[in-house]
Amino acid sequence: MIHYRSLGFVNTRVMFAVAVRAGFAVPAYNFNNMEQLQAIVLSCLETRSPVIIQVSKGARDYADRTLLGHMAHGAVEMMKREAAENGLGEIPIALHLDHGDSYDLCVSCIESGFSSVMIDGSHHVYEDNAALTRRVVDLAHLHDVTVEGELGVLAGVEDEVAAESHTYTRPEEVEDFVSRTGVDSLAISIGTSHGAYKFKVGQSPRIRLDILHEIERRIPDFPIVLHGSSSIPQDAVEAINRCGGSIKDSVGIPEEQLREAARSAVCKINIDSDGRLVMTAKIREIFSRNPEEFDPRKYLGPAREALREMYARKNREVLGSAGRAPEIVTAQVGIQYSREVKNE
Ligand code: G3H
Ligand code: 13P
Ligand code: ZN
Repeated sequence: MIHYRSLGFVNTRVMFAVAVRAGFAVPAYNFNNMEQLQAIVLSCLETRSPVIIQVSKGARDYADRTLLGHMAHGAVEMMKREAAENGLGEIPIALHLDHGDSYDLCVSCIESGFSSVMIDGSHHVYEDNAALTRRVVDLAHLHDVTVEGELGVLAGVEDEVAAESHTYTRPEEVEDFVSRTGVDSLAISIGTSHGAYKFKVGQSPRIRLDILHEIERRIPDFPIVLHGSSSIPQDAVEAINRCGGSIKDSVGIPEEQLREAARSAVCKINIDSDGRLVMTAKIREIFSRNPEEFDPRKYLGPAREALREMYARKNREVLGSAGRAPEIVTAQVGIQYSREVKNE
């Protein structure tokens, strides 16, 4: 068992408490490779933002779970060195399992140094979802790992299962689910969806903030998570299609609506597809301008830079997380101090 604290990660408890109180959302960005991970961590360091670096089951298989764990640990070390060299304060980083679909997968992540796991039982009937989630919480809390549960089903591809339409979270279920399972945060379905195809062009995308507000009324200040929150940058889609790609027309979640959600109890916003589009656009542009290019550093490097700019802008303009790291670090230090005093 490798405990996440020995790797320099924090769980999400303090981040979420500060985010709910101050009205911002912590970015939860997915990574599968070194360039994405560097862009995420360096953009968050540069904007003084806390961050949740998240890993799906697919990412674990793609990058190899052992290598991925070492990369995540290395990212914390890189952040510390960059912070020291540039006279910056360190930022809190949580390592999170995204869409864990089984008890065993959650156990494997907890044992290998994850500080937070999602158990996604949303495709099960309510009772089975609650029972599975409770089981994961019981184990996770023994190690002070935080747990995200989910109620309601997002349209799109989730856990490699395609759902045709949304099943919105039923506000009348949330109190029972949260108290019965002991989860630390709850992902809800209010009209966001996974992937690059969310709304048709010409539709006016609207997330159901009314459902969010009703949930908040029933579980005040409880940390809420939004999945499927990419905004599908149209300039990236156009660049991909101009340079030989074929991405169908679609629009994502308007950034103003995400900003509004982040001001409420939504304290974690998941974004993956926007990064995939920005990265692909940059690589395609380079290949179409320089078809003779074959050094991966010459196309992955600029793609990493484009990603870094995108994440920094999201932190500043959409999530409101820029500049929030110091108060989380201070609160975290206080908790660490009382833990040490208690153990003396
Ligand atoms: O919610 C899904 C995330 O975008 C991860 O996607 O399962 O293809 O890695 P993935
Ligand atoms: P997007 O596909 O909208 O980026 O959502 C990502 C996500 O929810 C990861 O869990
Ligand atoms: Zn998701």
